[in-house]
Amino acid sequence: MSGRLAGKVAIITGSGSGIGQSIAIRFASEGATVVVDYRNNIDQAQETASKAEAAGGKAILVKSDVSILADTQNLVDQAYQQLGRCDILVNNAGIEKEAAFWDVTEADYDAVLNVNLKGAFFLTQAFVRRLRDAKLPGRIINISSVHEDMVFPNFSTYCVSKGGMRMLMRNLSVELGPLNITVNNIAPGAISTPINAKMMANKSQLDALLKNIPLGRMGTSADVAAVALFLASDDGAYVTGSTYFVDGGLIRNYHEQ
Ligand code: BGC
Repeated sequence: MSGRLAGKVAIITGSGSGIGQSIAIRFASEGATVVVDYRNNIDQAQETASKAEAAGGKAILVKSDVSILADTQNLVDQAYQQLGRCDILVNNAGIEKEAAFWDVTEADYDAVLNVNLKGAFFLTQAFVRRLRDAKLPGRIINISSVHEDMVFPNFSTYCVSKGGMRMLMRNLSVELGPLNITVNNIAPGAISTPINAKMMANKSQLDALLKNIPLGRMGTSADVAAVALFLASDDGAYVTGSTYFVDGGLIRNYHEQ
């Protein structure tokens, strides 16, 4: 199959829904074989795989909870065992929990940090070790958030995880550059995906948010997938150590009234 990712294999974590699903389908439409990672919901993962195949690519499913170290290793092992290679890793799986700082529980702290940061950390490690051993190039794309940089009151665990992801990306761009492995973040703003379902159902909350977005609309997961494709393709070959904001201008917003 031809396409900008022809012959490549990409792992996309949390690709049963939302941004991860769109990235998997977009990559498949450009000739990639995608490894659809899911934690619980096999039906959603199967939907992603069918859509990826309908888009012209191939897909396999792997059940992996990225917060569990052995699962991250297995995810990479499965790509090699079933597909013989793995060129692109998209660390997309993420969760958020709302709580005032003084109410954050240890369980919620661990849940958010373990999925969003520890998961990306050790999955990236497993991905890189294989490439290092085989002396092959690679691409790492982290789906962080505008909140890798911007405050989000009542979501301190989420901000800590995404801020950590920002520094992980910057550090790895230096450590992995000599291996010809690039690493970049995509920082989505308010995207209409399941993570935002509750907020979008609340009209006054949604209207208040839209006032802060210069482009005046929520983003779509396809908006994010387009940038992921650029970073994964040959066009992104010389880009490493950067964050791409896909937020309709949210992070640059300024109003006097
Ligand atoms: C969060 C959303 C939030 C958006 C903009 C995203 O990273 O997941 O809950 O609406 O940032 O603040």
